[in-house]
Amino acid sequence: MKMSPVTSRLPGLILGFLLSGVALLGMALGCGTQTEGAKLWRHHCAECHGLEGRGNLLGYSRYPLVNLVDDAWSGSSDTGSLEEIVLQGVFPVMPAFDQLDDDELRAIMDHLQMLRGEIY
Ligand code: HEC
Repeated sequence: MKMSPVTSRLPGLILGFLLSGVALLGMALGCGTQTEGAKLWRHHCAECHGLEGRGNLLGYSRYPLVNLVDDAWSGSSDTGSLEEIVLQGVFPVMPAFDQLDDDELRAIMDHLQMLRGEIY
């Protein structure tokens, strides 16, 4: 049977379509070049505070202070005080993060400020 020009080009069109889809997906995944702070946040903090810092996750949302992007703090909100809390943890709900070095802690606090819209 002789295929019409359109039908014979169809496989190529479909393949091209699929390939461009794969390429777009790759770009979407690749271009979100994450800052160190974002990676550390995802690794250490997101399971309780959420990727966006809102702390609206099942199991932790009942702690009002788990939301780190509102303006409710237990004490002073200056970076030094917050770093202190992160290093010590909040007994018994949040572990101490005293294994973080200064650079990592800085990066995490920067990321938190970014989540809060204080820096970009
Ligand atoms: C196992 C869950 C858990 C993890 C992991 C965790 N937190 Fe927390 N964190 C909490 C909870 C729950 C609170 C609120 C405690 C309360 O209500 O007293 C809190 C409180 C805080 C506070 C104090 C807020 C205030 O108002 O005093 C800061 C700052 C904070 N977390 C930062 C972080 C950072 C940064 C990380 C990652 C390095 C992290 N937390 C990881 C559960 C967690």
